[in-house]
Amino acid sequence: MPFPESFLQELTDRNEISEVVSGYVRLTKKSGSNLFGLCPFHSEKTPSFSVSTDRQIYHCFGCGKGGGVINFIMEIENLSYPDAVRFLARRVGLSVPEDERDENYSKRERMLSLNRDAARFFHEQLKAPAGQAARDYVKKREISGAMVTSFGLGFAPDSWSSLVDAMLARGYTKPELLSAGLARASKNGSGGIYDTFRNRLMFPVIDVRGSVIGFSGRILGEGEPKYMNSPETLVFDKSRNLFALNLAKKSKKGYIILSEGNVDVVSLHQAGFDCAVASLGTSLTPEQARLISRYTSEVVIAYDGDAAGQKAAQRAIGILEKLDLKVRVLRMTGAKDPDEFIKKFGAPAFENLLSRSENHVEYRLSELAEKYDLSVDESRIAFLKDATGVIAALPSSVSREVYAHKVGEMAKVSAEAVLSEVARARKSLISKAKKQQEREQLSPIKAQQPRERSLHFENIRSAAAEKGIISLLYYEPSLFLGEQRILAEEFSSPVLGRFYSELLSRIRSGAQPSLSALSESFTNDEISLLTEIVSQPQMLANADKALDDYINIIKTERLAAEQNTNSDSILRDFAERKRRSKGYGG
Ligand code: CTP
Ligand code: MN
Repeated sequence: MPFPESFLQELTDRNEISEVVSGYVRLTKKSGSNLFGLCPFHSEKTPSFSVSTDRQIYHCFGCGKGGGVINFIMEIENLSYPDAVRFLARRVGLSVPEDERDENYSKRERMLSLNRDAARFFHEQLKAPAGQAARDYVKKREISGAMVTSFGLGFAPDSWSSLVDAMLARGYTKPELLSAGLARASKNGSGGIYDTFRNRLMFPVIDVRGSVIGFSGRILGEGEPKYMNSPETLVFDKSRNLFALNLAKKSKKGYIILSEGNVDVVSLHQAGFDCAVASLGTSLTPEQARLISRYTSEVVIAYDGDAAGQKAAQRAIGILEKLDLKVRVLRMTGAKDPDEFIKKFGAPAFENLLSRSENHVEYRLSELAEKYDLSVDESRIAFLKDATGVIAALPSSVSREVYAHKVGEMAKVSAEAVLSEVARARKSLISKAKKQQEREQLSPIKAQQPRERSLHFENIRSAAAEKGIISLLYYEPSLFLGEQRILAEEFSSPVLGRFYSELLSRIRSGAQPSLSALSESFTNDEISLLTEIVSQPQMLANADKALDDYINIIKTERLAAEQNTNSDSILRDFAERKRRSKGYGG
């Protein structure tokens, strides 16, 4: 059962596309009614993602994704069509006409509500008599009451079933507790379940929309494992979320501090650095970096000072740089991590450290300098080779010059020598990049093909005319109200034919040709193609003449194709006859 038309209309009216998209993408540059931003669906440095407030569509010129507001939510939240509709309905407080077709949605909703109730339960336990040990630990770590509240910290009691019992009493079922990762099945086959988190300080993981999606539990004191995190569930994906981003996204600092431990994050927030986040027990992933880039353009890495932390920093730099984020790296001395540093030296000292934090080039160069013994000629040469590689990749010639001087001083060679090495390294980088680009650059014919292979056009010329007709349907529907001059079956491309017949039947029944209403009958790839078509500029001055031309082209191409197949079959017949006559003769 599709959603009623009037409901979809209201839904898309209330969910203005640029407002919805702004929750995920920083839309900045403005041209006419178009807003631009970095595409959330692929890595890029210059904005090719556009949102048209007139047409209420989005379109990325880079990766080709596009559609209406519902498609956007389907893509970015990874939701099915009905779930995306519900998501948007909830966003504006619209109730969804009752339907019971999607189990997954209600499963998600139940899990989120269970997580929320579990977080409340843990929070209460931290205040209850049973929470004494945890309160002691919180005090020992000098975590303030305000932080306990704003992070919603809690305590999982030292018991096998306190959460399970409390949640079962609230009406949740054993399978629900298991699939949320809050309970585990007993191994003895009794069918019993027990609490996953026991005797731990609990940090709810809250996503940017404010839903509790999972938990990290830290042991009280020393012991292994230090952290236990919720497993992957329907609502929790470690690689796509960051601890405390729900708070940090509201920070006015203008940058984000990336640290390793949850305690570090809490400690940083407490000291006024309300922009701190941490990944959830994995090294930084590209998805997390992309998530960060929605909220800031500058990241300060404040990992632990040990070797593991520094190695993780190097990896994170590589990932963040790809998104054109400004990256700086903090060098802490005298303390192992931000928490310890702030406790020892105070917040102003940390602020000072932040302002002195090196940009990633300086950081990399000093890392390299530490790796090589610069008093030995051979390693000086090796250092220079690595260092010129780092400099050559810098896009600005001024910064290449500046760092060439710096490296020259470090290795005690002339800046000129470094610069000429840099020039050489840069040449080879550029030629590599060019080759890559050539390889990626699509031939003109290929460029007119849909990005999605399965939608391949058999006849480019006809497909271009078919696209033109679809565009006219969208912008000049009145042209199509009279006699039907071309049938969907005459289209060379099946998918374009389907767009045509769907749009046409909507128009003829008096409805608007809206993308949102079509979303249900087409795949996301198909909707992207349709969006691309309707995003093309269309000259509407001679629309009726254009329609004539398009129809002509389609019909001629079709005729030509038929003749081809005809002549093919004549040739085949001829060959067949010849073969037979030979057979008879021989
Ligand atoms: N970690 C984890 N799960 C989390 C957060 C961190 O497994 N949700 C892991 C990180 O991968 C890293 C370590 O725990 O290896 C971070 O430890 P640390 O910085 O020491 O954590 P803190 O909370 O700051 O604890 P401590 O008070 O000991 O500094
Ligand atoms: Mn720490």
